[in-house]
Amino acid sequence: KHCFQRGADGYLYCEGVRVEDAMAAAVRSPFYLYSKPQVLRNFAAYREALQGLRSVVGYAVKANNNLPVLQLLQGLGCGAVLVSGNELRLALQAGFEPSRCIFNGNGKTLEDLELAARSGVFINVDSEFDLKNIVRAARTTGEKVPVLLRINPDVDPQVHPYVATGNKTSKFGIRNEKLQWFLDSIKSHSNEIKLVGVHCHLGSTITKVDIFRDAAVLMVNFVDEIRAQGFELEYLNIGGGLGIDYHHTDDVLPSPMDLINTVRELVLSRDLTLIIEPGRSLIANTCCFVNRVTGVKSNGTKNFIVIDGSMAELIRPSLYGAYQHIELVSPPSPDAEVATFDIVGPVCESADFLGKDRELPTPDEGAGLVVHDAGAYCMSMASTYNMKLRPPEYWVEEDGSIVKIRHEEKLEDYMKVFDGLPA
Ligand code: LLP
Repeated sequence: KHCFQRGADGYLYCEGVRVEDAMAAAVRSPFYLYSKPQVLRNFAAYREALQGLRSVVGYAVKANNNLPVLQLLQGLGCGAVLVSGNELRLALQAGFEPSRCIFNGNGKTLEDLELAARSGVFINVDSEFDLKNIVRAARTTGEKVPVLLRINPDVDPQVHPYVATGNKTSKFGIRNEKLQWFLDSIKSHSNEIKLVGVHCHLGSTITKVDIFRDAAVLMVNFVDEIRAQGFELEYLNIGGGLGIDYHHTDDVLPSPMDLINTVRELVLSRDLTLIIEPGRSLIANTCCFVNRVTGVKSNGTKNFIVIDGSMAELIRPSLYGAYQHIELVSPPSPDAEVATFDIVGPVCESADFLGKDRELPTPDEGAGLVVHDAGAYCMSMASTYNMKLRPPEYWVEEDGSIVKIRHEEKLEDYMKVFDGLPA
């Protein structure tokens, strides 16, 4: 069941609240609207799937870095996966337990690594220079750093090339030809670092759990090989990447339970603690991007619904040709003609579309229009292109109250970057 549902009265609801009422309450349009109960349900699905295993859920903060969302997840016992010093600072501020955090990335700076070493989070080793810098950070801070080796297992995730990360042409991780060099090097730095696990991340929007299983089989073989050399490995981190039902068809996509069940026996057989790093599957379906229709136009054969939101606030359709489901918020007037539209924003380039060839009733000016499944990689990838300022965010709580969880960016916030500069 989806948390945004059309009621019998024809209006779109988020939990018990009409999206139209949220539009009336919001300080401006467009904005992001979340269901807080759906965040809880999504996390509960992972927790239930992981019953019977030692495990850490490391939420991929890059998917959505809203602070109240992070605090909510942290309070449920969730950990965090961080890819920059600032994400790490934010996670610490949200109260995440460092022993449930992993600092990851192919270009971690020495400064960020020192912060990570001091904080006590796990650090993924991505390359030779990365290992050298982790050792330096450990020396500078005097902390012994727990590390995981990010292995590139060369498994094809069967997704858009921009979000495939575990095939051998990708920039991430180390290939098995180099494994022995890394093990020897880690051994020679046993005062500074301790190898505690292995990590892989295949890609994102994966819809077949066999792909995770294939990778897990390769990964436990690495675990065996590494343990045979005397390392006490505790963690198998299989990354994130589970896809979601963007098309709102009734195709049954794999659930967290299906994902965990394909690797459960392998994890138990090696007595490992499983780390998983979901982003999208925890947060995408909890949110709609809510817009107002500015007007409708036609260029001969092509019809457009022009909205106030754009590729600046939500770039996935432009960047990956991603499909996100689009609906009108309120029931159309009885004489509204159904037609095929591109849904476009006001930004000055033709890549600025939120959806193409969508069949919708012709909306009135000012009507509400939502882009679904906007909780992951939408606000966190928003830009200020064309000086569009970043939108506010709200969530609907269990009791139906609409609460602001992020302020709208204001022109004076934007102009601060020019403060005190020569005229
Ligand atoms: N762990 C690592 C190491 C990752 O690189 C990622 C995502 C995740 C976990 C979380 O993956 P998820 O469960 O969310 O699929 N901007 C793209 C997605 C980029 C994903 C990058 N890595 C999009 O909008 O589809």
